[in-house]
Amino acid sequence: MQDDFIWWRDGIIYQIYPRSFADSNGDGLGDLPGITSRLDYLAELGIDALWLSPFYPSPDADFGYDISDYTNIDPRFGTLADFDTLVAAAHQRNIRIIVDLVLNHTSDQHPWFLESRSSRNNPKRDWYLWRDHPNNWQSFFGGVGWEWDAATRQHYFHMFARQQPDLNWRNPKVHQEMLEVFRFWAERGVDGFRLDVFNAYFKDENYRDNPRKFGLRGFERYNHLYDINQPEMHPLLNEIRTLLDHYPERYAVGETFVASPETSASYCGPGKLHAAFNFDFTFRKFSAAEFADSIQKWTQATGAEIWPNYVLSNHDQPRSATRYAHGEDDTRARLALGMLLTLRGTPFLYYGEEIGMRDIRLKRSEILDPPGQHYWPFYTGRDGCRAPMQWDASPQAGFSSAKPWLPVHPNYRQRNVAAQQQDPGSLLNFVKKLIALRRSSPALQRGDFRLLCDPAQGVLSYERQTTAQHLRVHLNFSARPQALPATDVSPSLVLSSHRDSLNQPLQIAPGEVLILQTPA
Ligand code: NOJ
Repeated sequence: MQDDFIWWRDGIIYQIYPRSFADSNGDGLGDLPGITSRLDYLAELGIDALWLSPFYPSPDADFGYDISDYTNIDPRFGTLADFDTLVAAAHQRNIRIIVDLVLNHTSDQHPWFLESRSSRNNPKRDWYLWRDHPNNWQSFFGGVGWEWDAATRQHYFHMFARQQPDLNWRNPKVHQEMLEVFRFWAERGVDGFRLDVFNAYFKDENYRDNPRKFGLRGFERYNHLYDINQPEMHPLLNEIRTLLDHYPERYAVGETFVASPETSASYCGPGKLHAAFNFDFTFRKFSAAEFADSIQKWTQATGAEIWPNYVLSNHDQPRSATRYAHGEDDTRARLALGMLLTLRGTPFLYYGEEIGMRDIRLKRSEILDPPGQHYWPFYTGRDGCRAPMQWDASPQAGFSSAKPWLPVHPNYRQRNVAAQQQDPGSLLNFVKKLIALRRSSPALQRGDFRLLCDPAQGVLSYERQTTAQHLRVHLNFSARPQALPATDVSPSLVLSSHRDSLNQPLQIAPGEVLILQTPA
């Protein structure tokens, strides 16, 4: 590892959805000791940091994204002592821990909201957004965003489920409490924070109606001028960054909600967040031209000052393999991961992506996710990408000794970690090779990036280089062999998904990931 290695810039971040990763106590739900028991697997995979989706006490109206205590662990996931053990064991293996802070809203069972709704003159009334008359703001999960409280005869606002009331960030006490949450976890040794929908913390002070626009779902029928991306967010980010900079090597990545690459980039840089997610890949078709366009736009938006990041999958979207692959064939998953792990920007891997896990399909009666229940059959929700990790071919895929909270994908007997570890040609072993290459290559970690040739033929080609190392990455998204651009000197083979040696003239096979080196 290089001396100037910065973990969040040069490393790879792996997202774990705790309830689906590993169940240590046989209740069908994953937990923190389960994660600790799998750290050797993660260290061997070669990742540098774990982002843990919420593990705090929660009534689970939105599976942990409705928090009822910010400074504790839900007993189903373990205890604070289990958390400390996990952090220490991860640090021993040089793996950093990022926790998920959901500070736009609390659970409606959070003691603050219980107090707030108890009467109009409760001191915490103003900690949430209460109004006599609702405006036209919508809930992202469906329907109007205002819930009538019969007891106190006012409405409160919720951007997500009605059990997730939005906090009033303009209230100085709320603001102060939230900064304490950052301090609590930073003091406990966590290395970074993922900020859930941070760009929705502030809403327009005058509660102006959002203008209408064309869209399919309710939320999409409005231009979100007044409920997202308010200017007050910028000074707050500065305050959060100043707080984090009191600790060594801390990191914050924001989840930008309904945002273009430019908007995401506007929240990052010195005195702001280290990163804001770029979800553009998740909306793109599987083609060299689409990905090239996405990379170019993001590169332009981030410029020289902001370190980019790339995401193919997370707990809110169908998995990359589900979106792209044909049946159980992993060619497309290999290409997508070949791209993710060789671009200039922090790669985020989602648990199970390294073995090409596919989404599960559920009957209507089995759907647990609130927006899936609301919008069925037009949208079936996010349960599909949250199924248990497929560790081996034993019952419940080695995830749990009990019936899991969501069913295991029926392909688990063939598609699992143990089987792929044994198979030299597996997706897992390919991903491991790519990660090992990235870890040993300053050019892949932080070298310059330049797109080569026109992706219209179906080949995405780019250069990654430092003064000491010149690499060329070629990804053939087309169904035909393609000629590669000539180089002045003959290149050497660094890694290929298809071959062990190079032939002249240089060609790339359909579906091939090919990394070449030319003398620096
Ligand atoms: C974004 C999270 O990623 C998603 O899972 C959650 O439902 C909403 N924010 C609300 O917290």
